[in-house]
Amino acid sequence: MKILKYTLFFSFLLSINQNLISQLITNVYARQTFSLNGKWNYIIDPYETGYYDYRYQPHDSRKNPWDGFFLDKKQTDKTQLVEYSFDQSPTLMVPGDWNSQDDKLLYYEGTIWYRKKFDYKKTDSNNRVFVYFGAANYETDVYLNGKKLGKHIGGFTPFSYEITNLLKENENSIVVKVDNKRKREGVPTLNTDWWNYGGITRDVMIVELPKTFVSDYTIQLPKGSTKSIRCKVKLSDPVANKKITVTIPELKINANLSTDNNGEASVILPVKKISLWSPENPKLYNVNISDGTETISDEIGFRTIETKGHDILLNGKSIFLRGICIHEENAMRGGRAYSEEDAAMLLNWVKELNCNYVRLAHYPHNEHMLKLADKLGILVWEENPVYWTILWDNEETFNNAKQQLTDVIERDKNRASVIIWSMANETPVSEPRNMFLGNLAKHARSLDDTRLISAALEVHGEKNNVFSVEDPFSDYVDIINFNQYIGWYNGLPEKCDKVTWKINYNKPVMISEFGGGALQGMHGDNLTRWSEEYQSDLYDRTLKMLDKIPQFRGVSPWILCDFRSPRRVLPVIQDGWNRKGVIGENGTKKKAFFTLKNFYTKKKESFK
Ligand code: GCU
Repeated sequence: MKILKYTLFFSFLLSINQNLISQLITNVYARQTFSLNGKWNYIIDPYETGYYDYRYQPHDSRKNPWDGFFLDKKQTDKTQLVEYSFDQSPTLMVPGDWNSQDDKLLYYEGTIWYRKKFDYKKTDSNNRVFVYFGAANYETDVYLNGKKLGKHIGGFTPFSYEITNLLKENENSIVVKVDNKRKREGVPTLNTDWWNYGGITRDVMIVELPKTFVSDYTIQLPKGSTKSIRCKVKLSDPVANKKITVTIPELKINANLSTDNNGEASVILPVKKISLWSPENPKLYNVNISDGTETISDEIGFRTIETKGHDILLNGKSIFLRGICIHEENAMRGGRAYSEEDAAMLLNWVKELNCNYVRLAHYPHNEHMLKLADKLGILVWEENPVYWTILWDNEETFNNAKQQLTDVIERDKNRASVIIWSMANETPVSEPRNMFLGNLAKHARSLDDTRLISAALEVHGEKNNVFSVEDPFSDYVDIINFNQYIGWYNGLPEKCDKVTWKINYNKPVMISEFGGGALQGMHGDNLTRWSEEYQSDLYDRTLKMLDKIPQFRGVSPWILCDFRSPRRVLPVIQDGWNRKGVIGENGTKKKAFFTLKNFYTKKKESFK
């Protein structure tokens, strides 16, 4: 009897543990899914009454978790005390930040509880079921039918929990606590120049999968090769001898793999002639991965990216990255961008600018952006939100940054458009910071040795109009990137004409940010701050200055579109917006848009 008791207890713990760990499901949009997007009831909870009791003890640490508040309890008889009701509460749209959905929530930083009711009948009783979140900012606790599924920290990467044993056919109640309070030990930390959009900001779906399924796969050219394709597949469980087929019909590839004791399989397949992906030829191949029960279809491009001296080589050919920075925001609708339509709006502007490259600042953007960049032939820099004054000597902070970096690499490693993993933005040089970033760079390379590593560094020296970049982290990067604002934060645009750059690295150099503000529609002479003319003249002089740097191989001006920031408070001109966009918050292009476009048109012709 005792053995049975212990077995039951440990299987109960396992089921809880299984739920509390987020499950990687690569290419979730190609799986069998059921969307939970739409209206969710919500309750604003600034004191986290639904999470802590009056002695500040978490409800769900109790032996009986459903004693916690806000887990969709109902008043079942007239004597019962229940002090909240999701059914009678208002609704928010999911996906979508809460700040842009209700004026009362524009500046709100704290907890909001979401609740969605749904029915779900499995299509096969042997299948497993997960709930998947594209992202939620910043700290998220998920409950299903009163049971805790897990806690996720980080505002820009996906997570999912198994709900197989908790799911009912009718009236499931999923409750999600999202807390967007900024934290000193967070990643990012307290101070950022962007709006702290909170909420369930990306797609939510139910995912139904076989008992043992393909949870992850990587299909790409091995580093420096165009004569073979490496396929790596990992199952959800350590099941040996499971047959996996990988087909790429157009390349006449039909590979049969068998998993090892870890549930993993890999093979390197020779290919004769492959059409390499590039901005001029964004060739994507249909790839199918099947375990006999489920077939996952993907569209994957194959290309090589490397550096050699001052050059960035795409498929062995030196390229110049004609870029622009983007925040994940739809300024016209307001709030976080999240949809395919948002991605199309942003990336079509990028194409109009004659760009072949985007810097997705300052955090991982939604997956629709990367899939569309693959299709449009736009090279991509993805960035971990290690921004400004991170707590460099805090282990919890490092592990958080490392997990977020792992999540974005695992999500996007099959996207040909992604060529650069960026470790950080504008971080102050110190020994703890060098160690922190160096360890992140090593971790990134251990996960993916095929892409380039960089970071947005800063200018470190200015003397007699000679500017220099000297940063110990430069030893870890493949491309030297730095932000500079001569003519906006440092002197006037004419200062650019007198500046020379001292950058003593035998590596490619890119400028990850430059720019200045302009209120769209405000006009004046070139010295009138906030006029479109000032911004355009700044662009013109800056680009001429940068073009003299011998290692100059790319640039991503700050920024495509005006974006909300609580740091920008100048009435009439800013009103809570950072005005450095080359497009205004109303979608109208400023003069600088065309100045940049002209430079890129000439650069495209001249850089052979
Ligand atoms: C910094 C920073 C951006 C910020 C920009 C600005 O370089 O990286 O996040 O918005 O400058 O000052 O507008």
